[in-house]
Amino acid sequence: MADDQVLTDMLTMLDRRPGVLALRVCVIELLIERERYADALAHCGTALGHEPGNAQVLALMMRCTTALSGGSPAPAATSMAAPATPASGSAAAQPDFDWAAAEDEVGDIIEPAFVHGVPTEFVTDGDAATVERPSLRLADVGGMSEVKQQLDLTLLGPLRNPELARAFGTSARGGLLLYGPPGCGKTFIASAVAGELGANFYPIEITDILDIYTGASERNVHSIFEMARRNAPCVLFLDEVDALGHKRSQMQASTTMRTVVNQLLTEMDSATHSNEGVFVLGATNHPWDVDVALRRPGRFDRMIFVGLPDLAARKSILHYHLRDRPVAGIDLDALAAHTDGLSGADLAHVCTSATQLAMADSMRSGEVRPIGMADVRAALAQIRPSTGAWFESARNVVEFANGDGSYDELATYLRRMKRR
Ligand SMILES: Nc1ncnc2c1ncn2[C@@H]1O[C@H](COP(=O)(O)OP(=O)(O)OP(=O)(O)O)[C@@H](O)[C@H]1O
Ligand SMILES: [Mg+2]
Repeated sequence: MADDQVLTDMLTMLDRRPGVLALRVCVIELLIERERYADALAHCGTALGHEPGNAQVLALMMRCTTALSGGSPAPAATSMAAPATPASGSAAAQPDFDWAAAEDEVGDIIEPAFVHGVPTEFVTDGDAATVERPSLRLADVGGMSEVKQQLDLTLLGPLRNPELARAFGTSARGGLLLYGPPGCGKTFIASAVAGELGANFYPIEITDILDIYTGASERNVHSIFEMARRNAPCVLFLDEVDALGHKRSQMQASTTMRTVVNQLLTEMDSATHSNEGVFVLGATNHPWDVDVALRRPGRFDRMIFVGLPDLAARKSILHYHLRDRPVAGIDLDALAAHTDGLSGADLAHVCTSATQLAMADSMRSGEVRPIGMADVRAALAQIRPSTGAWFESARNVVEFANGDGSYDELATYLRRMKRR
């Protein structure tokens, strides 16, 4: 295996299991070997977040800071007392990482072929398709009680109790479109739905559906729905659906996309297919760019607005992003109360900036200084809400393009938030 391939593979694995310290140490060593000290330093910070005070990581951190400040990096043997482990070899040595053990650790994650690969592969053994099983549950999603309630009523309830749903004349089919400003938890809550449903949740990467060869994209769409029908009851999750379901009128230049959208319309249509038990969950920032035909009954016929995180959600987001980092004296309630108007992504950014401040201090002193309220406040002073432009467009849509009442929920929200 080529050196850089080793590094790439390790980074991929680390994305899936960020808490595996031995793996991160190997990555740090490889980065140092390639003189990528700044990258290595960032990994040192994350590693110390998982295990504050780890001597081996501190030693590596010292090597990076020395190198970055112009000195020659101290060799591993003379750096701060680090326990000798197979992973702490010399710069020239290939880190001796236990791949088998790491594979064991990530063993419960099996990706469906259509998530990272050629969609046709899964058609052949679609019935055995297994998906990533996120451990996230709806209960882990802070706040958003209205969204959760709606998901429970329209999606999870009927899927869990098909008999009952039938008795009430409803069924788990059709689609639901989550929409709202960027970074406010649409993808996150969809992962929680996946966690609730286990194997019957199929996240579809739109870019994987699209194929340069004529007709192949449509066949892929068809194959995905066929697989879903075989595995019903199940949920197909199409994230950023506007990329696919873009208004056909705006797609004169792209005949391919138009035919893909048409295929999606056909597949979602109960008149042409029996989609009993096949539920399509979509997410988008711009539902107004999604072809209206996709929002007719039987397709994405219900829309749920996912707005800015409320107080409970903000607290939970802050907790989530600080959970593995060394902290001291953080008052989550106070921070949640002072961050109204920030999105989940903004809050994540605040936590990262606060971490960097504490890390910079730690590097100066050579001792780990935990993240405190002063760091978070300093980070907050630097951030502006990122959703301003989205709310501008939303206001226009509600004002001028809500003739059919599609955006009444959004209109109520804007009024409540005094954004109208
Ligand atoms: N209610 C919540 N509880 C905990 N964390 C949350 C919550 N909402 C959002 N987050 C955090 O905010 C981050 C951004 O959320 P997410 O990626 O789901 O946004 P999105 O609405 O899908 O954005 P985009 O429209 O840009 O795709 C997530 O990584 C998650 O950690
Ligand atoms: Mg998203």
